[in-house]
Amino acid sequence: MERANLDYANLPFAYQKTDANIRYWFRNGTWSAGELTADEYIPLHMAATCLHYGQEVFEGLKAYERPDGRVQTFRLMENAKRIQRSARKLFMQPVPDEVFRDAVHRVVRANRRFVPPYGSGATLYIRPLLLGVSPEVGVKPSHDYLFLVLVTPVGPYYKGGLTPVRLIVEERIDRAAPGGVGDAKCGGNYAAGMRATLPVKDKGYAEVLYLDCREKKYLDESGSSNFYAMIGKTFATPASPSILPSITNLSVQQIAKDMDLTVEQRHVSVDELPTFNEAGCLGTAAVITPVESITYRGKDFVYAKDGKAGPLTSELYKRLTAIQWGEAPDPYGWTEIVPEA
Ligand code: PLP
Ligand code: COI
Repeated sequence: MERANLDYANLPFAYQKTDANIRYWFRNGTWSAGELTADEYIPLHMAATCLHYGQEVFEGLKAYERPDGRVQTFRLMENAKRIQRSARKLFMQPVPDEVFRDAVHRVVRANRRFVPPYGSGATLYIRPLLLGVSPEVGVKPSHDYLFLVLVTPVGPYYKGGLTPVRLIVEERIDRAAPGGVGDAKCGGNYAAGMRATLPVKDKGYAEVLYLDCREKKYLDESGSSNFYAMIGKTFATPASPSILPSITNLSVQQIAKDMDLTVEQRHVSVDELPTFNEAGCLGTAAVITPVESITYRGKDFVYAKDGKAGPLTSELYKRLTAIQWGEAPDPYGWTEIVPEA
């Protein structure tokens, strides 16, 4: 295999053209067999429900080249289940498990030369996307759907590896409401967050931390990842109906238990900010990103000094990434080799 000629050690988290994406159409009650194409554009009716009424849900997962040269995915079926939940919530046609797995395997294989080499720190980001494509002008669900999976080689989402980032608590703008669709991975949630995130990026913050929108008292999550804090030897992560249930978080909770940490998924109040000894962001793109400081009402609460992650965060990162990269045994069955054909 000849690798795609890219500067893998310095890849941004950005879209790059690859060799193929894969598409399945749901028409007349059945899914098509899936077709690989090099075309980066999709034929879409101008009145499609995804464009007008937000019938659009997506996923994010990664493929990793292991030390033995094989390629593996991480908790693929959790992503399949989540896009099904997101789809149901937006009254869309869920993608069956077999279609999801088939799509990921075929598109990764078709783009094998773009899977970044083991040791580069880069990965192949996989972006499944489900769209309502029937034309409607009344607010109603689509009959027909397009399920598409694109891939792109990426570097770190935030600054890089275990470099701590700064967060700021957002008190004014809400990303999602309880009873809304904050727990679904739909595009509208991200559009809703841009007016909060973009202004603070200029001030050196990687992201905002949203509060629960009812009481403005409990930490929710950032616009692109879940949040945790270490309080002594307790890993505490917000329980909230308006956050996305993160697969990285689920995995890190298991690893934390194996490290004899206490795991609490509960309301985490802003009043507790002074009690944290470490904090971090959790997500496929973010992996585990340590939090350097959180700004709340003009005061900085500092959790990582001299650009270094705390010891518990470092250990969680080491254990999680060793499984993801195929360096350590996977006692939980989280990884799956992408079959060669
Ligand atoms: N929260 C939001 C809003 C996200 O966009 C993501 C990314 O997918 C996450 C949390 C983390 O979820 P996961 O770990 O499944 O990638
Ligand atoms: C992911 O982590 O996969 C996400 O979808 C977050 C996105 C904002 C890049």
